[in-house]
Amino acid sequence: MLDNKHVKKSYARWAPVYDLVFALVLRPGRKAAAAAGERPGGRVLDVGVGTGLELPMFDRRTKLVGIDLSEPMLRRAQRRVGAKALRNVEGLAAMDATRLAFPDGHFDAVVAPYVLTVVPEPEASLNELARVVKPGGEIILVNHVGAGTGPMAWLESWLSTCSAELGWRPEFPWSILGDWIDANPHVRLLERRRLAPFGLFTLARIERLPT
Ligand SMILES: C[S@@+](CC[C@H](N)C(=O)[O-])C[C@H]1O[C@@H](n2cnc3c(N)ncnc32)[C@H](O)[C@@H]1O
Repeated sequence: MLDNKHVKKSYARWAPVYDLVFALVLRPGRKAAAAAGERPGGRVLDVGVGTGLELPMFDRRTKLVGIDLSEPMLRRAQRRVGAKALRNVEGLAAMDATRLAFPDGHFDAVVAPYVLTVVPEPEASLNELARVVKPGGEIILVNHVGAGTGPMAWLESWLSTCSAELGWRPEFPWSILGDWIDANPHVRLLERRRLAPFGLFTLARIERLPT
């Protein structure tokens, strides 16, 4: 069972080695999220920004704000912003995705690569993401979606017993996202696309409908 305490503990452990382990293997999803999320001249929120690996992938005319629950991860993101002189990053802050300290409709887009399988309350986080994006704006998610059946589903189910230690849920079903979209009259699914490596990850683009 994941909760914020476990997430913080887990990412305090991951932070020193995160880039070494995940920079390359998760790169295609970050690139896809940045390509779909960049809004030159606009402002984009990166939820669960982690060590900031996706920040340099955005067009520099896109203003970026990053938030994360883990301060050790954020410190690395801050260092990356300095090292790469990312002047389009307006701020990085410790914040919970279920309680965003931004007004309604503040961002042109929200991206969250590899985050929804990690947050303990995905539906509450999705509600907040939808609240802070402008009508007509987009929420862009990249996640591993559980296989549902077959040997991969068995493996995911077995790995799920270690969710708290891993810091994510390997068995995350699409229905969490699909049911939330179906139940929310203010959003619609624009795109669902499998990504490299091996189609293991899925990009979802969700529009907050214009009012
Ligand atoms: C797998 S990492 C992804 C980081 C980055 N987006 C990337 O692509 O490398 C997941 C991140 O989500 C953060 N996270 C988990 N739960 C969160 C929450 N409730 N609010 C904000 N961030 C959260 C973790 O601290 C971690 O940095």
